[in-house]
Amino acid sequence: MIKLPEPKYVGMPFEDAIKKRRSVRNYLQKALNIDQLSQLLFAAQGITGKLFGQPLRSAPSAGALYPIEIYLIVNNVTDLPPGIYHYIVIEHALKLVKSGDFSGEITSAGLHQKMLGKANVVFALSAVFDRTRRKYGGRSSRYLYIEAGHISQNIYLQAVSLGLGSVSVGAFQDEKVNRLIGVDGKKETVIYLHAVGAL
Ligand SMILES: Cc1cc2nc3c(=O)[nH]c(=O)nc-3n(C[C@H](O)[C@H](O)[C@H](O)COP(=O)(O)O)c2cc1C
Repeated sequence: MIKLPEPKYVGMPFEDAIKKRRSVRNYLQKALNIDQLSQLLFAAQGITGKLFGQPLRSAPSAGALYPIEIYLIVNNVTDLPPGIYHYIVIEHALKLVKSGDFSGEITSAGLHQKMLGKANVVFALSAVFDRTRRKYGGRSSRYLYIEAGHISQNIYLQAVSLGLGSVSVGAFQDEKVNRLIGVDGKKETVIYLHAVGAL
């Protein structure tokens, strides 16, 4: 388990981040540091409070059931070897899934959108269907996509505040990304990608 540094960055006013948010697809080949990555993950799904002992997160979730998991395809982050990592929310830590340079595979899985391979890190948001289905039945399928959108918007705004560029990506081959991050595509499947890169 790789413990992430405490997220303590203080950035630009929220209103400036909203005004500046844009999808950015060209990045410099400059490393991201682990503090920046920690901040992005915290914005995406960090623990921000508690209700009756239950941890609550930075993005809302139907019934506080949190069906979305985050995997990272790390291409260029200081002190973090390239590879696939799983974000362990409760520990604010990363667990290595497999190491290696997967920039080519994520680009190919993403219909050859080049920014996926050039990004410092690509967030893969996957959904664990049963977590939400147990309570919300047929309605749960829409909740999963809505929740991924909330998380992606947090990543967009945090990236702006950190002076980084980012773009959310819906066009990719599910099976290829599922295989890459190590989920089965049945109980859990990728639903959204979000690339982040240096400017
Ligand atoms: C659901 C969704 C899927 C998207 N998929 C892609 C994509 O596959 N590739 C891409 O380059 N941009 C993608 N985008 C980004 C849009 O192209 C972008 O938001 C739009 O052009 C508006 O530009 P802006 O984000 O800079 O305001 C996606 C955005 C959303 C909301």
